[in-house]
Amino acid sequence: MQTTLKLQDKEFVPYISEKEITEKIKLLAEQLKKDYEGKRPLFIAILNGSFMFAAALFKELEIEAEISFIKLASYKGTRSTGHVITAIGLDADVTNRHVIILEDIIDTGKTLYTFLPQLYNQHPASLKVAVLLDKPEPRKFDVPVDYVCFTIPNKFVLGFGLDFDGFGRNTKEIFQLKEE
Ligand code: IMP
Ligand code: MG
Repeated sequence: MQTTLKLQDKEFVPYISEKEITEKIKLLAEQLKKDYEGKRPLFIAILNGSFMFAAALFKELEIEAEISFIKLASYKGTRSTGHVITAIGLDADVTNRHVIILEDIIDTGKTLYTFLPQLYNQHPASLKVAVLLDKPEPRKFDVPVDYVCFTIPNKFVLGFGLDFDGFGRNTKEIFQLKEE
């Protein structure tokens, strides 16, 4: 177990232990088994942040299921529509499939709010969202969050796949930005 973690000029302290993460992910896998047994669901994990969460969850999942990884690239649209999000690597056909999105953390909700309609357009049989961490406080966009491992306050966290400026993903536990 690491004690504190320094990245650039920031200090992070241990927040959620490896054991707690593992336990919550096991519980989620059990719940998903109950909800999706026989439905052959398709998991869509959003890179980069969700790679560890997705791997940990998928190992625990005792049902027949598929997983696909995508990356969301956001850019300013040329028209007044504002932000546009394209899904890179979405090769699976989601039509009539039971789809579960896997995200590391949901913050303002903007990413999913922009992306989910693109999936609905392809008429999945059902569409749910599973997140490792939910920060409800900064939410600006109303998105459904169906499965949550941890609900956390509005403080920056990293580790277990989550980054600060690209770094800090490679830990077994989750750290939180230290109070000044
Ligand atoms: P949203 O579109 O505002 O919901 O942002 C979601 C994305 O912001 C996540 O997928 C993360 O990449 C990033 N993010 C939000 N909060 C944190 C945090 O506390 N630590 C690391 N990344 C975060
Ligand atoms: Mg992310």
